[in-house]
Amino acid sequence: MKEIIFQPLKEENISAIVALANHELGTHYLCEETLKNYLQLDNTYCIQVVLNKETVGFSMVRVLPKKDFIMQYAVTHKNIFEDLLKNSNTILYRAHTVVSKEFQKRGIANLLVKFTQEKYESLADTALSVAWVKNKQCSMENVLVKYGFYLHTEIKKYWKEDSLQKKYYCAACKKIPCICNAKVFVKRLG
Ligand SMILES: CC(C)(COP(=O)(O)OP(=O)(O)OC[C@H]1O[C@@H](n2cnc3c(N)ncnc32)[C@H](O)[C@@H]1OP(=O)(O)O)[C@@H](O)C(=O)NCCC(=O)NCCS
Ligand SMILES: [Zn+2]
Repeated sequence: MKEIIFQPLKEENISAIVALANHELGTHYLCEETLKNYLQLDNTYCIQVVLNKETVGFSMVRVLPKKDFIMQYAVTHKNIFEDLLKNSNTILYRAHTVVSKEFQKRGIANLLVKFTQEKYESLADTALSVAWVKNKQCSMENVLVKYGFYLHTEIKKYWKEDSLQKKYYCAACKKIPCICNAKVFVKRLG
Protein backbone atom coordinates (compact mmCIF):
# COMPACT_ATOMS: atom_id res chain seq x y z
CA MET A 1 0.00 0.00 0.00
CA LYS A 2 2.63 2.46 -1.20
CA GLU A 3 0.27 5.26 -2.04
CA ILE A 4 -1.71 5.37 1.20
CA ILE A 5 -2.30 8.90 2.54
CA PHE A 6 -4.13 10.14 5.64
CA GLN A 7 -5.39 13.66 5.19
CA PRO A 8 -8.00 16.01 6.63
CA LEU A 9 -11.29 15.80 4.75
CA LYS A 10 -11.54 18.14 1.78
CA GLU A 11 -14.87 19.61 0.76
CA GLU A 12 -14.67 18.03 -2.72
CA ASN A 13 -14.48 14.56 -1.13
CA ILE A 14 -17.58 14.89 1.06
CA SER A 15 -19.79 13.03 -1.40
CA ALA A 16 -17.33 10.09 -1.50
CA ILE A 17 -17.42 9.90 2.31
CA VAL A 18 -21.23 10.04 2.36
CA ALA A 19 -21.40 7.26 -0.23
CA LEU A 20 -19.05 5.13 1.89
CA ALA A 21 -21.09 5.80 5.03
CA ASN A 22 -24.37 5.04 3.25
CA HIS A 23 -23.00 1.74 2.07
CA GLU A 24 -21.13 0.57 5.17
CA LEU A 25 -23.07 2.16 8.06
CA GLY A 26 -26.52 2.68 6.60
CA THR A 27 -28.55 4.99 4.40
CA HIS A 28 -28.99 8.54 5.76
CA TYR A 29 -26.79 7.86 8.81
CA LEU A 30 -24.34 10.56 7.80
CA CYS A 31 -25.35 13.38 5.46
CA GLU A 32 -23.46 15.99 3.44
CA GLU A 33 -24.79 18.82 5.54
CA THR A 34 -23.44 17.29 8.76
CA LEU A 35 -20.00 16.85 7.19
CA LYS A 36 -20.02 20.39 5.79
CA ASN A 37 -20.84 21.68 9.27
CA TYR A 38 -18.06 19.58 10.78
CA LEU A 39 -15.56 21.14 8.37
CA GLN A 40 -16.29 24.51 9.98
CA LEU A 41 -15.67 23.27 13.53
CA ASP A 42 -12.27 23.36 15.15
CA ASN A 43 -13.04 20.47 17.54
CA THR A 44 -13.98 17.93 14.84
CA TYR A 45 -11.45 16.06 12.75
CA CYS A 46 -12.38 13.93 9.79
CA ILE A 47 -9.40 12.05 8.43
CA GLN A 48 -9.81 10.42 5.05
CA VAL A 49 -7.71 7.59 3.70
CA VAL A 50 -6.68 8.01 0.10
CA LEU A 51 -5.20 5.02 -1.67
CA ASN A 52 -3.96 5.51 -5.21
CA LYS A 53 -6.02 8.74 -5.33
CA GLU A 54 -9.24 6.99 -4.29
CA THR A 55 -11.01 7.66 -0.96
CA VAL A 56 -11.21 4.25 0.70
CA GLY A 57 -11.98 5.09 4.32
CA PHE A 58 -12.31 7.69 7.02
CA SER A 59 -12.35 8.25 10.74
CA MET A 60 -14.13 11.06 12.50
CA VAL A 61 -13.06 12.14 15.94
CA ARG A 62 -14.52 14.95 18.02
CA VAL A 63 -13.16 16.67 21.10
CA LEU A 64 -16.06 17.58 23.35
CA PRO A 65 -16.60 18.77 26.91
CA LYS A 66 -18.28 15.94 28.81
CA LYS A 67 -21.57 17.83 29.06
CA ASP A 68 -21.73 18.36 25.28
CA PHE A 69 -20.82 14.73 24.60
CA ILE A 70 -23.66 13.50 26.81
CA MET A 71 -26.13 15.97 25.30
CA GLN A 72 -25.24 15.13 21.71
CA TYR A 73 -24.63 11.39 21.90
CA ALA A 74 -25.85 9.89 25.11
CA VAL A 75 -29.18 11.35 26.20
CA THR A 76 -30.91 8.00 25.93
CA HIS A 77 -28.19 6.31 28.02
CA LYS A 78 -27.33 9.19 30.28
CA ASN A 79 -26.82 7.24 33.50
CA ILE A 80 -24.31 4.81 32.01
CA PHE A 81 -22.19 7.60 30.52
CA GLU A 82 -22.42 9.94 33.49
CA ASP A 83 -21.14 7.16 35.70
CA LEU A 84 -18.44 6.11 33.25
CA LEU A 85 -17.27 9.71 32.80
CA LYS A 86 -17.57 10.89 36.38
CA ASN A 87 -13.84 11.71 36.58
CA SER A 88 -13.55 13.01 33.00
CA ASN A 89 -13.75 16.54 31.64
CA THR A 90 -12.89 16.39 27.95
CA ILE A 91 -13.79 13.51 25.67
CA LEU A 92 -12.08 12.36 22.49
CA TYR A 93 -15.08 10.75 20.87
CA ARG A 94 -14.38 8.38 18.00
CA ALA A 95 -17.58 9.07 16.08
CA HIS A 96 -17.08 6.81 13.03
CA THR A 97 -14.51 4.63 11.34
CA VAL A 98 -15.30 3.17 7.95
CA VAL A 99 -13.25 1.33 5.34
CA SER A 100 -14.77 0.50 1.97
CA LYS A 101 -15.66 -3.16 1.49
CA GLU A 102 -13.03 -4.00 -1.11
CA PHE A 103 -10.22 -2.57 1.03
CA GLN A 104 -11.18 -4.17 4.35
CA LYS A 105 -8.96 -6.64 6.21
CA ARG A 106 -5.74 -5.01 5.05
CA GLY A 107 -5.00 -3.12 8.23
CA ILE A 108 -6.44 0.26 7.18
CA ALA A 109 -8.66 0.65 10.28
CA ASN A 110 -5.61 -0.19 12.41
CA LEU A 111 -3.67 2.60 10.72
CA LEU A 112 -6.58 5.03 11.04
CA VAL A 113 -7.00 4.41 14.78
CA LYS A 114 -3.24 4.68 15.33
CA PHE A 115 -3.00 7.90 13.32
CA THR A 116 -5.97 9.66 14.93
CA GLN A 117 -5.17 8.53 18.47
CA GLU A 118 -1.56 9.69 18.20
CA LYS A 119 -2.61 13.00 16.71
CA TYR A 120 -5.50 13.94 18.98
CA GLU A 121 -5.10 12.10 22.30
CA SER A 122 -3.33 15.03 23.92
CA LEU A 123 -6.51 17.12 23.51
CA ALA A 124 -8.63 15.09 25.96
CA ASP A 125 -8.50 13.13 29.18
CA THR A 126 -10.73 10.26 28.05
CA ALA A 127 -11.19 8.58 24.67
CA LEU A 128 -14.46 6.89 23.93
CA SER A 129 -15.83 4.70 21.18
CA VAL A 130 -19.31 3.29 20.85
CA ALA A 131 -18.63 0.39 18.53
CA TRP A 132 -21.21 -1.29 16.38
CA VAL A 133 -21.99 -4.95 16.98
CA LYS A 134 -23.03 -5.97 13.50
CA ASN A 135 -24.49 -9.46 13.16
CA LYS A 136 -22.96 -10.45 16.53
CA GLN A 137 -19.48 -9.23 15.45
CA CYS A 138 -17.77 -6.10 16.68
CA SER A 139 -15.14 -5.59 14.00
CA MET A 140 -13.54 -2.61 15.75
CA GLU A 141 -12.98 -4.49 19.01
CA ASN A 142 -9.50 -5.92 18.34
CA VAL A 143 -8.26 -2.69 16.84
CA LEU A 144 -9.49 -0.59 19.77
CA VAL A 145 -8.06 -2.99 22.34
CA LYS A 146 -4.75 -2.98 20.48
CA TYR A 147 -4.55 0.80 20.90
CA GLY A 148 -5.29 0.80 24.62
CA PHE A 149 -9.09 0.83 24.90
CA TYR A 150 -10.96 -1.49 27.23
CA LEU A 151 -14.52 -2.73 26.97
CA HIS A 152 -16.74 -1.03 29.53
CA THR A 153 -20.16 -2.41 28.67
CA GLU A 154 -22.44 -3.65 25.90
CA ILE A 155 -25.68 -1.75 25.41
CA LYS A 156 -28.62 -3.49 23.75
CA LYS A 157 -30.36 -1.75 20.83
CA TYR A 158 -28.19 1.33 21.33
CA TRP A 159 -29.40 3.19 18.20
CA LYS A 160 -33.11 2.32 18.48
CA GLU A 161 -34.38 5.78 19.50
CA ASP A 162 -31.79 7.61 17.41
CA SER A 163 -32.69 5.69 14.24
CA LEU A 164 -36.40 6.36 14.79
CA GLN A 165 -35.75 10.04 15.29
CA LYS A 166 -33.26 10.55 12.43
CA LYS A 167 -34.83 7.95 10.12
CA TYR A 168 -31.71 6.14 8.99
CA TYR A 169 -31.52 2.57 7.75
CA CYS A 170 -28.74 0.68 9.50
CA ALA A 171 -26.74 -1.45 7.06
CA ALA A 172 -27.32 -4.58 9.17
CA CYS A 173 -31.01 -4.15 10.11
CA LYS A 174 -31.93 -2.49 6.79
CA LYS A 175 -35.07 -1.13 8.43
CA ILE A 176 -36.13 1.29 11.15
CA PRO A 177 -35.53 0.97 14.04
CA CYS A 178 -32.00 -0.33 14.27
CA ILE A 179 -31.84 -3.07 16.87
CA CYS A 180 -28.08 -3.58 16.88
CA ASN A 181 -26.13 -3.58 20.12
CA ALA A 182 -23.13 -1.39 20.83
CA LYS A 183 -19.97 -1.99 22.82
CA VAL A 184 -18.68 0.99 24.74
CA PHE A 185 -14.87 1.21 24.78
CA VAL A 186 -12.88 3.61 26.93
CA LYS A 187 -9.27 4.71 27.14
CA ARG A 188 -8.11 6.88 30.03
CA LEU A 189 -5.56 9.38 28.75
CA GLY A 190 -2.80 11.38 30.35
C1 LIG B 1 -14.71 -2.12 10.97
C2 LIG B 1 -13.84 -1.69 9.82
C3 LIG B 1 -13.64 -0.17 9.87
C4 LIG B 1 -12.50 -2.40 9.93
O1 LIG B 1 -11.67 -1.95 8.88
P1 LIG B 1 -10.47 -2.82 8.29
O2 LIG B 1 -9.60 -1.88 7.55
O3 LIG B 1 -11.04 -3.97 7.56
O4 LIG B 1 -9.77 -3.31 9.62
P2 LIG B 1 -8.29 -3.85 9.75
O5 LIG B 1 -7.89 -4.53 8.49
O6 LIG B 1 -7.40 -2.77 10.24
O7 LIG B 1 -8.44 -4.86 10.92
C5 LIG B 1 -9.58 -5.63 11.08
C6 LIG B 1 -9.16 -7.04 11.21
O8 LIG B 1 -8.49 -7.48 10.06
C7 LIG B 1 -7.18 -8.03 10.43
N1 LIG B 1 -6.20 -7.74 9.39
C8 LIG B 1 -5.40 -6.68 9.31
N2 LIG B 1 -4.60 -6.78 8.23
C9 LIG B 1 -4.92 -7.93 7.61
C10 LIG B 1 -4.45 -8.56 6.44
N3 LIG B 1 -3.47 -8.07 5.69
N4 LIG B 1 -5.05 -9.72 6.07
C11 LIG B 1 -6.03 -10.24 6.82
N5 LIG B 1 -6.51 -9.69 7.94
C12 LIG B 1 -5.96 -8.54 8.34
C13 LIG B 1 -6.86 -7.30 11.69
O9 LIG B 1 -5.90 -7.97 12.47
C14 LIG B 1 -8.19 -7.28 12.34
O10 LIG B 1 -8.38 -8.54 12.86
P3 LIG B 1 -9.65 -9.04 13.60
O11 LIG B 1 -10.58 -9.56 12.55
O12 LIG B 1 -9.16 -10.08 14.52
O13 LIG B 1 -10.23 -7.82 14.27
C15 LIG B 1 -14.46 -2.07 8.45
O14 LIG B 1 -14.68 -3.46 8.45
C16 LIG B 1 -15.77 -1.35 8.18
O15 LIG B 1 -15.78 -0.22 7.69
N6 LIG B 1 -16.90 -2.02 8.48
C17 LIG B 1 -18.22 -1.44 8.27
C18 LIG B 1 -18.45 -0.22 9.13
C19 LIG B 1 -18.16 -0.47 10.58
O16 LIG B 1 -18.53 -1.49 11.15
N7 LIG B 1 -17.50 0.52 11.18
C20 LIG B 1 -17.20 0.49 12.61
C21 LIG B 1 -18.33 1.10 13.34
S1 LIG B 1 -18.00 1.09 15.07
ZN1 LIG C 1 -28.93 -2.12 13.16
